Amino acid sequence: MSDAARADVEMKGGGYYSLATRGAKEVIDRATPLVLQAIDRMKRSSRPFVMSDMGCADGGTSLDLVRTCIDHLAPREFTIVYTDQPRNDFNALFRIVYGGTGLPSYLVGRDWVRVLVSATSFYRQVLPSTTVDLAFSATAMQWMSAKPVNVTGAVHSVFATGAEHEAFAAQARTDWHDILRHRTAELVSGGRFVSVTFGIDERGRFLGNTGGVSMHETFEAIWEELADEGVITPAELLDMTLPQYYRTVDEFRAPFDDGSVPKLALEDVFTRVVECPFAAAYTEHHDAARFAREYVPTLRSWTEGTFRDALSERRSPEERAAIIDEYYGRYERRVREAPEGHGMSYVHVYLVARRA
Ligand SMILES: C[S@@+](CC[C@H](N)C(=O)[O-])C[C@H]1O[C@@H](n2cnc3c(N)ncnc32)[C@H](O)[C@@H]1O
Repeated sequence: MSDAARADVEMKGGGYYSLATRGAKEVIDRATPLVLQAIDRMKRSSRPFVMSDMGCADGGTSLDLVRTCIDHLAPREFTIVYTDQPRNDFNALFRIVYGGTGLPSYLVGRDWVRVLVSATSFYRQVLPSTTVDLAFSATAMQWMSAKPVNVTGAVHSVFATGAEHEAFAAQARTDWHDILRHRTAELVSGGRFVSVTFGIDERGRFLGNTGGVSMHETFEAIWEELADEGVITPAELLDMTLPQYYRTVDEFRAPFDDGSVPKLALEDVFTRVVECPFAAAYTEHHDAARFAREYVPTLRSWTEGTFRDALSERRSPEERAAIIDEYYGRYERRVREAPEGHGMSYVHVYLVARRA
């Protein structure tokens, strides 16, 4: 990516995202009781209920959650607004939501449900003021509005030190405040914002770094290998930094505690680890090749866009594609040859806030 600040990230399309991210679906399924509790705490009303799913990708991972919310509130008229970025594969979303992939559509037999879609970033106000009852977002708000700097020697800011770390932390503070400010504007009085976002837990654990082989260190090691072999340039290596930040619980709490979002009250905040489903399956089937084949696509689904963009625009699309294939091929080989300890367990900070 020539412009280091660009952060309009892209998940792999064609429905690949939710097929490859069984773990992300499990995270949402396990957040469902929290969402239902948030709904139950709202004042009963007969006006149409509005839910947003911000950073929805192809909508496959939240399909069951949305259906459960619809049925929980039935027969109340229900609108779901899916939001993501312009580069998102919205056609895949339409296929999934409207039943074009074989997954059962919640629209069947529920004629009181409306589906709307927006490609506006959650760093802006997306919906009209005071219209949203439930703003929901899963595994999305670790993506930043912009990448402040590149991180030396790592693809993720979680390993940044000194001035590089401070630049990321400052950007993340502004980003989180902006997210909360815009959700405050969108929510109705008594509405809830449920955020399930990657973070760092009380034991210092984060995505793919919960013991065993560190996923982020493996990402970097393979790019360094390709740089040492002259396949990519030092500038491309540096630009592999993902525009992401994992906040601690204290960082998530800060705007609530210091009064900078006075109209939002924090109701709940806690961390939870959801085990990597592919690593868990490996402990049953013991087939290293199968583990590698099934697991690496989950890494690819959310990193490929950034990594491809970091490759020079002077390279042809075919050359870039070949480097990307080589990269994930090497990751797969590492897992196949030494599977023990690999895995991408999810570490999230769950948060519920109420609009005063
Ligand atoms: C890892 S996916 C999560 C998808 C789904 N919510 C889930 O939990 O499985 C992250 C999504 O956030 C989206 N995203 C990242 N930055 C965004 C922004 N500023 N505004 C809206 N969506 C964004 C990405 O495009 C991507 O689809």
